[in-house]
Amino acid sequence: MAQTKSKGDQLKHVALVPVDWLEERSGLVGAVKYFLFRRVPHDTNWFHTLGSATLTAFIVQALTGVILAMYYKPSPEEAYASIQMITNDLTLGWLVRGMHRWGASVFIILLFLHMGRVFLFGAYKYPRELNWLLGVLLLVLAMLEGFTGYLLPWDQTAYWATVVGINLNATAPFLGPFLADFLRGGQEIGTETLARFYSLHMLLIPGALIALILLHLYLVIRLGVTSPPWSKDAAGVEREEVVVGRRGLVEPRPRGDGAGADAKGRPEA
Ligand code: HEM
Repeated sequence: MAQTKSKGDQLKHVALVPVDWLEERSGLVGAVKYFLFRRVPHDTNWFHTLGSATLTAFIVQALTGVILAMYYKPSPEEAYASIQMITNDLTLGWLVRGMHRWGASVFIILLFLHMGRVFLFGAYKYPRELNWLLGVLLLVLAMLEGFTGYLLPWDQTAYWATVVGINLNATAPFLGPFLADFLRGGQEIGTETLARFYSLHMLLIPGALIALILLHLYLVIRLGVTSPPWSKDAAGVEREEVVVGRRGLVEPRPRGDGAGADAKGRPEA
């Protein structure tokens, strides 16, 4: 006799139709499953969250930046007034601007903390050298993002900090004077400088950052994360094969035949 499905099962079946539809045509669901349930060392700890924290800070910068760009006017005549308008008149403008301004420092601090953890855990060594190099590029771009953004409020601090920054660049050997001319867009800091800093700040550098972050994360997923240096599972140490639990987005069950896993799919002690 055919068994009738419970309401819950029917609902689940209906809810999964679009998921199956997407999976059949793109393999995306499989990719997300792989990303979420990939194996990581059992002794990952809070230090391993610094990379994701940096990513979160970057996303906050991107989102608040998009909102600011809707109201900011990148010309010497209007820039300062538009920033004042955002801070004083726009609904919650002070919050968005504050998040973007303070968030920039948070982003850089987290970046250094993440880099420090990678260094101290020796996670830059084989086979992760390329990811370290990508990280160095990310660091340079993040600093440039801070430098170009600092001019945009077009107040005295912004103007003179940029004068100092450009003059510093000008002292570099050989390329220095050309670099300074390129950044200024002429002999003096003015309309051209503001326009090019704005374009670099909201188009070129964030675009490059997004592309490099995606590559960085691809390598993290491909190579896996490193165990802490004190780990028993560190590279080179013999380890027992453990069956890792949950598999699947909707129906948690043990991998393989489930041997070595308890009822919830966790490895047995
Ligand atoms: C926008 C900046 C960055 C973002 C969003 C980011 C994000 C991440 C994430 C989410 C991870 C995996 C989790 C973790 O280990 O914390 C990771 C790992 C890694 N990151 Fe970054 N990162 C950034 C900058 C850097 C920098 C500046 C360096 C070094 C110069 C670096 C080198 C590495 C390396 C080598 C790994 C692999 C670590 C391991 O296997 O244990 N990253 N990154």
